[in-house]
Amino acid sequence: MELILRTATAADLDDLANIACAAFPADPQWDYRFPRRKEFPDDTYRCTREGYKSMLEEDGVAINVITTDVHGAQQPIALAVWELMFEETSNFLDIANCDDRRDADFKRMKAFDDACFKAKKTFFDDVYGDQQIHLRILATHPDWQRHGAGTKHCNWGLDLAYDHRIPVTVLSSPLGGQLYTYLKFETLGFFKVQVEGEEEKLSIGAMVKHYKDDDGELEKRF
Ligand SMILES: CC(C)(COP(=O)(O)OP(=O)(O)OC[C@H]1O[C@@H](n2cnc3c(N)ncnc32)[C@H](O)[C@@H]1OP(=O)(O)O)[C@@H](O)C(=O)NCCC(=O)NCCS
Repeated sequence: MELILRTATAADLDDLANIACAAFPADPQWDYRFPRRKEFPDDTYRCTREGYKSMLEEDGVAINVITTDVHGAQQPIALAVWELMFEETSNFLDIANCDDRRDADFKRMKAFDDACFKAKKTFFDDVYGDQQIHLRILATHPDWQRHGAGTKHCNWGLDLAYDHRIPVTVLSSPLGGQLYTYLKFETLGFFKVQVEGEEEKLSIGAMVKHYKDDDGELEKRF
């Protein structure tokens, strides 16, 4: 199966929203933040699409898609959103921050954003500053998983990181963790997302991959 990676454009917005809405129910943070998504799927779709639209316009953010041939046409099947920290970037932006949605639990969305912001700062930004490439979002449509699309997206970032001699960082979901472990990322630790007084909580990993120098030695300058 041939996989083609390219930069996403505004013409991909429907496909980006479709891939995300199909893939992310497998990540516990999705049901945690959007517990009424089955009642209001249009709100989830609309807000997800709006989020990708704003990220396409965000400085220092690169969105890639992978396409494959489906009935003679190239169909987007996987997406990745990268923060190129060595470029001028905006701050962490929640992808689903529209106020009039009915699918979401806003307290949990805030708890999630706050915890991710804090973890990104503690695990990565305080250590690597802008000398990192951060994988913000990765998703492969469930119909196309386990065909190498996630790996191809990661390799794009790892190649760019190698060119700049800097690490790739990611806050990982359980499934993402399987992929990053396969790609030999190192786990730095885990952090919790929880609203005070609630039992429900999430555990999210912080992972990093350092580049190898030309002799194959793992570089750990930091
Ligand atoms: C994580 C995700 C992007 C992986 O995408 P993918 O295109 O299936 O990844 P790949 O095909 O490149 O997987 C490469 C390797 O990673 C590991 N891996 C990937 N998915 C796995 C899974 N569900 N279970 C166990 N190992 C897995 C395997 O070692 C796999 O190699 P193999 O298929 O030869 O066994 C996809 O499962 C997904 O979209 N999940 C939901 C959203 C999500 O959690 N995103 C990550 C946010 S950090």
